[in-house]
Amino acid sequence: MKLFDPHGFGSSTLSYAGLLEKIEILRSTLRWAPRLERAEIEKLLNQSNALRDEVMQLSRKERFIEAAADLSDVSDAPESLDKPEALPPSAHRRREALIERSFIFEGIFGDNPKLLAALEVAEKAAPTDLPVLIDGESGTGKELMAKVIHANGARSERPYISVNCGAIPDNLLESELFGHRKGAFTGASSDRKGKFESAHTGTIFLDEIGELPLQGQVKLLRVLEAHEIQRVGSDEPIAVDTRIVAATNRNLRELAAQGQFREDLFYRLSVIHVTLPALRERRDEIPLLISWFGDEAASQLKRRPVKLTPKLRDFLLTYAWPGNIRELRNVVYRLSCLAGDTADLEHLPDDIRPVPAVAALREVDGQALGSPLSLSDAKRAASDEAERAFLERGLHETGGTVAELARRCEMNRSHLQMLLKKHGIRSKDFRHADKTDREKES
Ligand SMILES: Nc1ncnc2c1ncn2[C@@H]1O[C@H](COP(=O)(O)OP(=O)(O)O)[C@@H](O)[C@H]1O
Ligand SMILES: [Mg+2]
Repeated sequence: MKLFDPHGFGSSTLSYAGLLEKIEILRSTLRWAPRLERAEIEKLLNQSNALRDEVMQLSRKERFIEAAADLSDVSDAPESLDKPEALPPSAHRRREALIERSFIFEGIFGDNPKLLAALEVAEKAAPTDLPVLIDGESGTGKELMAKVIHANGARSERPYISVNCGAIPDNLLESELFGHRKGAFTGASSDRKGKFESAHTGTIFLDEIGELPLQGQVKLLRVLEAHEIQRVGSDEPIAVDTRIVAATNRNLRELAAQGQFREDLFYRLSVIHVTLPALRERRDEIPLLISWFGDEAASQLKRRPVKLTPKLRDFLLTYAWPGNIRELRNVVYRLSCLAGDTADLEHLPDDIRPVPAVAALREVDGQALGSPLSLSDAKRAASDEAERAFLERGLHETGGTVAELARRCEMNRSHLQMLLKKHGIRSKDFRHADKTDREKES
């Protein structure tokens, strides 16, 4: 019995017509099959799973286009809690133009000019085989951007292989990337293909490239130059045709200046260099993203989109978002899951929930708060002050040791760093003060 090619499935250019055709093929396969062998049943099941994924993707795409269109008439809509404010029309036009050109967004959502500029670069880079380097803080969408580049290129039907260079132990890295011959080292019990070979004719995504040890960097450079690899324990070169997209949350140029990253590799990788803005640099998008993830969470949790109290909304709009879109998405999912009809500050995770205003005012110790414009401004100022006082006291107590303070308040260290940055507090000032205090005492 002839089954259609399952590799033709999962195509990124989706349409209802294409989908119907596939359903029809599946249907007639079943109708005309005299009997089905186990292998064929498995194939059919895989195909129907792929079909289900496509239906989901298509509905996602529909929702995306709808949301984009909704935004254009937000300004006419009656004032609503959870709908984003109107954005400059040029941003809509740029995104609409991308949609019209059939750009595949893979779920990337947003209207910020910096993000749109990054998408426009991705659109131009995608059909070429040029290496792309994506940088930006954690959670800004680097991995999503890599998928966008793959999906919009000529290799979209070919493999997309993702490797996290920071998660593989140094001694296994080479074998992971390039494969090995049986017996190349203890534990190499059979020949094994590496990620580069698996990604042949497709795209390899090298995440956290800044963590790649120097020895691995040399090998990678050779692949970029010669387009061939050697499995560990073998001298036989194997030609690979792999498009490279790399990402990092570190500043590779700085790492190169410090001798921790090869400069020649940096230039090889960054022929096209895209930087994704941190969420706090695109605050204009927060309302849009809240509404986008709110709808997404509602449909996943099979509930109505959660409403937000003005206090919570204020908080979400002004919070520093050190974990960027990943953190925002998680918070919105959490609110959607824990709150009933309406979410409030109490539904926020403990480590980011602001101190209640009354306590905050007490914390300020009678310090003047200026004359804020509104009650919510007053509350925010008080909560900011309380946060600052808390951090300063904590650093004083721990002698300026951020790690220790993070441990004591059971807070993520990078989040704490972010808060310190937000308030312009330098931990080293506390180290110094502490020392001079002690010096005075002795
Ligand atoms: N612009 C965006 N629109 C929608 N979702 C996004 C966007 N950017 C990031 N995300 C989501 O945020 C999370 C983190 O994105 P990811 O690409 O893994 O970030 P990074 O690799 O930079 O740490 C993922 O769930 C991703 O789908
Ligand atoms: Mg990532």
